[in-house]
Amino acid sequence: MDYKKIIADKIRENLVVDVESIEKLIEIPPKSDMGDYAFPCFSLAKALRKAPNLIAEELASKISKEGFEKIDNLGPYLNFFVDKGAFSENTLEKILKEKDEYGASKVGNGKNITIDFSSPNIAKPFHVGHLFGTSIGNSLYKMLSFEGYNCIGINHLGDWGTQFGKLISAYKRWCDIDALEKEPIKELLRIYVKFHAEAEKDPSLEDEGRLYFKKLEDGEEEEVQLWKKFRELSLKEFEVVYKLLNVKFDAYTGESFYNDKMDAIVEEIDKKGILVTSNGAKVVMLEDYNMPPCIIKKSDGATIYATRDLAAAEYRKKTYDFYKSIYVVGSDQKLHFKQLFKTLELMGHDWAEDCKHVSYGMVRFTDRKFSTRKGDVIFLDELLNEAVEKTLQVINEKNPELKNKETVSKTVGIGAIVFTFLKNTREKDIVFDWQEMLSFDGETGPYVQYTYARGSSILRKLGTSQGKIDYSKLATPEDFDLIKLLESFQSAILSAIDKLEPSTLTRHIIEIAKAFNKFYNSNRISTEEDEAVRNARLKLTEATTQVIKNGLKLLGIGVVEEM
Ligand code: ARG
Repeated sequence: MDYKKIIADKIRENLVVDVESIEKLIEIPPKSDMGDYAFPCFSLAKALRKAPNLIAEELASKISKEGFEKIDNLGPYLNFFVDKGAFSENTLEKILKEKDEYGASKVGNGKNITIDFSSPNIAKPFHVGHLFGTSIGNSLYKMLSFEGYNCIGINHLGDWGTQFGKLISAYKRWCDIDALEKEPIKELLRIYVKFHAEAEKDPSLEDEGRLYFKKLEDGEEEEVQLWKKFRELSLKEFEVVYKLLNVKFDAYTGESFYNDKMDAIVEEIDKKGILVTSNGAKVVMLEDYNMPPCIIKKSDGATIYATRDLAAAEYRKKTYDFYKSIYVVGSDQKLHFKQLFKTLELMGHDWAEDCKHVSYGMVRFTDRKFSTRKGDVIFLDELLNEAVEKTLQVINEKNPELKNKETVSKTVGIGAIVFTFLKNTREKDIVFDWQEMLSFDGETGPYVQYTYARGSSILRKLGTSQGKIDYSKLATPEDFDLIKLLESFQSAILSAIDKLEPSTLTRHIIEIAKAFNKFYNSNRISTEEDEAVRNARLKLTEATTQVIKNGLKLLGIGVVEEM
C-alpha cells in the first residue's frame, strides 16, 4: 500500500482545481503527535485564492477518514494519522511477500545509465580514494538497477599517457623481473619512484621517457608489448580488490580504448568552429564561462585526458544511448568535468546536460599523508585484509566459539570500510579511523550487521510465526516507529537515487537498526506470555531483518547470521 499515493488521491478528490505533484509535497513529520504524514497547504494558496490554514481547516473537515485513525489540521498543515493496525499489516505483509525484492520498482523503465566508477590508473597503486569512489559507484549501480534502470558499469582505466614512456625507461633500467611477477604494482611503483628520483639528478631521463612514449604511440612492437604487460599485471591485482569487494563492471574501456578515436574527435571540434590555437596548443576557449580553456592537443601534438574523455562521452552516447551518464570521480576533478560538459554542449550535444559528475571528498588518515611520487601509499588489498584481521580479533574476544570466523570477519571487516565510505554525504572528507569504524556500537557497519544477526538469532531460537497475525498487537511507540521506517525504505532508496547520494540510504538503515534495538530492548520477545503479541513481534523481527539485508545489499555489503 502506498500511503503517499492514497493521501494524494484523497486531497485531490476534495479540490476543485487540478494540482500536480501533491504526492511529492507530502512530508513525514518529525514528531509523531503531528501525524504520520503531513501535507503543507501553502502550494494550494495561489490556485484556491485562500490562506493556507483556511484550506487546511476545510480539507480536514471534508476529507473522508477511511483507512485513517484521524485527519486534522495544525495551522497550514493537514495531518494524517494512519490506522496503525492496517498500516502494520500492509507493511509487514508486503515485506514478507516481496522478500529480496522489497523496495524494488520499475520506475527506471529500463532506461540506460552509464556509471563510470573506480577507474584506477595502471601501474600506479589503486589508492584509498579510488576505493571510496568504487564503493559509491557500486552502490549507485545496485540501487539504480533495483529501481528498474539498466546500468552499465564502466571502468575508465587510466591506461594511457606519457607516464608509460617513463615506466618503460625505468623498466629497462631497473626492473626486478621476479618481483614484478610476484607483486607487480609494488615493483612498478618502485621503479616509477626511482625514475623520478633519478630524473632529478639527470634530466635527460625525461627525454628518454618521452621517446619511449612516442614509440608506444607509433605502435612499435616492443613498447606495445611492455605496455600490455603492465596493463595485464595491474588488472590482475585490481581484480583481487574487486573480488574482495564483490564489484563487477560491464566494460573495461579505459583511456587507451579511445586512441583510434582521437583524430575524429579533434576534427569534429574543429568543424564546429570552436578549436583555437593558443600558445601552440589546440584548445576550446571557456573564458565566457569563467573557466580556463579545455586543452584538446598539447603544443607537442599529443592529446590528453580531456580529449579522451570527450571521445568517451560520444562513444557512450552512441553505444548505450544513455538516459544519464554518471561519473563517480573525486572532487579534485570538478573543474575537469565542468570543462568537459561545457565543451560537449558547445559542440552542440544537447545530451551534455544528462552528464553528471558525482564527486566525493578526500580520504585522510589521522597520522599520515601520502604521495605516489615518493612511493608512500597504502595498498588496498593490505588495507582490506587489515580490516578483516582486526575484525577477527574483535570476534575472538567477543565470541570465541563462533563458527566460520574467517568468513564472518571478511563480510564484517570489509563491510565496515564500505559502510564508512557510504555513511556521510559523499562530498565530505573522510577520516579513516579503525577503532571507530570497527566498533560494534555507534553508527557503523558492524553495528548494523550485529543488529541483523541478533534478529536472525531470535528467529532461529523462537521460530518464525505462522498463521494469522493480529497486527493490532503491535501497539507500542517502539513498534510503530520501527514499522514506519520499514515502510519508507523505498522512499529512502528513491531519494538516494534522486540525489545520487548513497548516504541517504545508509542513514535510513542506521535508523532502522537503532529502532529495532529500541524495540527489542523494550519489548522482550522470548519472555512474552501473550502468544498473539509474541507472534506479532516475531513477524516484525522477520520483516526488519529482511529490510536490513536488502538495504545492506544495495550498499554492496553482505550480512552474517551470527557474529
Ligand atoms: N583515472 C582517473 C583517476 O584516477 C579517473 C578517471 C575517471 N573517469 C573519467 N572518465 N575521467 O584520477
